[in-house]
Amino acid sequence: MGFPKSVVAGIVVALLRLSDAAVYKVGDAGGWTSIGNLDYKQWATTKTFQLGDIIHFEYNAQFHNVMRVTHSMYKACNASAPLATYATGNDTINITAKGHHYFICGVPGHCQSGQKVDINVLRESETAATPSGMSPASASIPSAGGPVSSPSGAISLKGSSKGSLTNLCLAMAASAVFVSVFP
Ligand SMILES: *[C@@H]1O[C@H](CO)[C@@H](O)[C@H](O)[C@H]1NC(C)=O
Ligand SMILES: *[C@@H]1O[C@H](CO)[C@@H](O)[C@H](O)[C@H]1NC(C)=O
Ligand SMILES: *[C@@H]1O[C@H](CO)[C@@H](O)[C@H](O)[C@H]1NC(C)=O
Repeated sequence: MGFPKSVVAGIVVALLRLSDAAVYKVGDAGGWTSIGNLDYKQWATTKTFQLGDIIHFEYNAQFHNVMRVTHSMYKACNASAPLATYATGNDTINITAKGHHYFICGVPGHCQSGQKVDINVLRESETAATPSGMSPASASIPSAGGPVSSPSGAISLKGSSKGSLTNLCLAMAASAVFVSVFP
């Protein structure tokens, strides 16, 4: 057997690309709401948003909406001239630019009570400034002298879902190469 190298390379590239996009549901299980004092700032700080990621807003469209606004409108909870408005209750927004993406609920009073979120895709300079202790990669370093095998992959699954997906894809890509090069 043995696949042509180009096919193997294609599989590897496809797997790596697949691992790039993540879907983030705003507020996680709580969703997009003005009740329950959900802290969307806290929610966002636990994520590392990247280009190609998809931001998912899920809410009851009878009571809420999603407006993309400028920084000053975000700060002032000013919903008078949104850049974009979403109102299906199940909205997905592709992140295709770096920097801040500000969203508020345009229903009066909701932004003021905290229904606002800042999705920030770090620029390279900011990424480099991230403290090294925060690196998710540190979770998947195998124990001293141990072979890099499936157990370490299983352990890394406990890390951030995004990091583990990347690790999983890398492992799959590595085994695809292995299988085709050594039949
Ligand atoms: C809200 O934003 C619009 C558009 O930028 C602006 O014209 C208006 O003055 C703002 N209203 C308040 C109360 O800041
Ligand atoms: C939201 O839309 C996606 C498809 O775009 C669908 O798979 C999902 O079930 C929807 N969720 C709700 C709660 O309607
Ligand atoms: C958003 O990304 C998804 C998956 O990459 C793609 O299928 C969809 O067409 C994109 N939507 C827009 C509006 O670009």
